[in-house]
Order: sequence, then C-alpha cells, then structure tokens
Amino acid sequence: MNVNRPSVTVVGSLNMDIVVESPRAPVKGETIQGLRAHFLPGGKGANQAIAAARLEANVRQIGCVGDDRFGEQLIDALRDNGVHTDAVRSVQEVSTGIASVLLTEGDNRIIVVSGANAMCSPDLIREFESAVADSDVILLQLEIPIETAMEATRIAKRHGKTVVLNPAPAAELPDELLRMIDVITPNRTELASLTGIPVDDKKQLEAAMRKLTTRGPKRVVATLGGAGAAYLTEGQEARFVSGLDVEVVDTTGAGDAFNAALAVRMAEGFELGDAVRFAICTSALAVTKLGAQPGMPSRNEVESLFVM
Ligand code: RIB
Repeated sequence: MNVNRPSVTVVGSLNMDIVVESPRAPVKGETIQGLRAHFLPGGKGANQAIAAARLEANVRQIGCVGDDRFGEQLIDALRDNGVHTDAVRSVQEVSTGIASVLLTEGDNRIIVVSGANAMCSPDLIREFESAVADSDVILLQLEIPIETAMEATRIAKRHGKTVVLNPAPAAELPDELLRMIDVITPNRTELASLTGIPVDDKKQLEAAMRKLTTRGPKRVVATLGGAGAAYLTEGQEARFVSGLDVEVVDTTGAGDAFNAALAVRMAEGFELGDAVRFAICTSALAVTKLGAQPGMPSRNEVESLFVM
C-alpha cells in the first residue's frame, strides 16, 4: 500500500455488462436491428473501485463473482487498474452477475441479474474487518444483499470510519442502516423513493433532501444527471453545483464515477462541497467514452478540468 494515498474499500457488485447500441428501444413484442454489441466489465461496485483507483486511491474491493470466464475477466479488470482483489471471492457453481445494458439516444436502460453478487455475505465482510479498519472511507451500493451493506457499515462505524452509501438501485432501506451513514448520494428517483416526496423541481428536491436527513444520514448529496448535483450544508442549506457541458457518448457508470470521486476526495480530507465539485468533473469525463469502466478518467484528466 502507498501510505500517502487515501484508502477506500468498496463493498459491492461485479457484473459483465452486455451492452447493445440501438437507434431506439423496441416496443413490446417487437424485434429491431441493433448497431453494435460489446461485453464490458461493469457492476456498480467494480466501476466505483476502478474509478477510485484511477483517481490514485489505494482501493480494495469486497465482492463475489462466479467461477466462470466472466468472473476471471472482471477480476483481471480490477487488477489491471491496481485494485486489491484478495477480498473478491470466486463462488463455485454460481454465475457471475450480468447486466443487460441497452444504449439508445444517449441514454441507457439496464436489467441486472445478480448471480454471484447475491452471495456477497456479511461473513465475507467480517473476514476482511481489518481491511475496513485500515480504510479512510467505505463506499457501498445496493447490488449486494442489504444485510451485507448493514454489516459493512456496522464494522466501519465500530472503527470510526466514514461510510458513503450510493443507494442504487433504489430500494427500501432500514432506519438502522440510514442512521449509520455519513454521506448518502441518491439520484432523483432514489431520493423520491426514500422520502415519498416527488422530486420534480428545486423546492421538492430541497424538501426531500431535508427529509432524508431526518431518517439518519449526516449529509445528503443528490445527483442530478447532466444538471449537476445538490447537497445540504451542515446548517441544512441547499447548495447546487451545475453540471459541465460535455459531449455525451454513454452515461452508464456516470453515477459510479461521481461516487468514487466523492469518496476519494473525502478520504483526502476535503470538505463536502469541494468533493462534490471534484465528483462532477469526474462524472462529466466518464460520460464522454463508451462503457462504464473504460470511461473512468485518470487523476490528471480530472485535475485538468477541476478548478478549486
Ligand atoms: O452503474 C452502472 C452499472 O450498473 C453497470 O455497469 C451495470 O453493471 C449495473 O450494475
């Protein structure tokens, strides 16, 4: 480990993304001709781990793949980017997670089949308690069982670590989990589902962010796609940070780039507003390339865009 670098443990999924580019989405019962197909390493956990490693953090991922070729390819992708993979288990007789990603008109539609991600157990987290204890920030998403995210959070808090939860995909979350979270990063849909408040305008967004803090998380950062992000200050004031104008090729993994950058910057000791601006630069660069992991920018690329 490079001791000068911040250290981030990502607890989360690994999927092989089967990406199909198509001029439009088919309607029910219809077959249409696509443009191109790609098999690209993905999964919210692995995307965030690779994004954080490219931002020059020391990164370890805890997660599970199946004992198949996709699993090997996903572990290789992590290793090639310098992510520690000793806590990525290959589970016998289970398939690696798969995501079917349909890219149409600059947007995506994703269906995930969990496979081995469902085997990422609280026991696996307990086995790597010392890795959690040695990290500055623990970064979680919800493509693994909720009890595993809970156990990772409990262990992290026992060791006084900062926990960032990216509540994606949207799910019901127990208050016990929310009360332990330092920073939660929902998008509009996830924020609406966690608070019951529709998030169609700024006023509703602010109301929803404030309501979410009443459920426990210390800080809320809402991601707003191309429009940027919003966060609440410690005094509960809403702050909006605009998105950057870039040529969008593929938005898959944009949220992962954002969360990884936020976690790395916080692990470096910067305050939340700074971390949000750094994260917006990272996700803006990520959407200019095809594929979640291939699109994750380097530290130099982000720094050339980021004005403190
Ligand atoms: O956040 C993007 C990711 O979501 C994709 O890589 C896909 O695997 C799904 O998990």
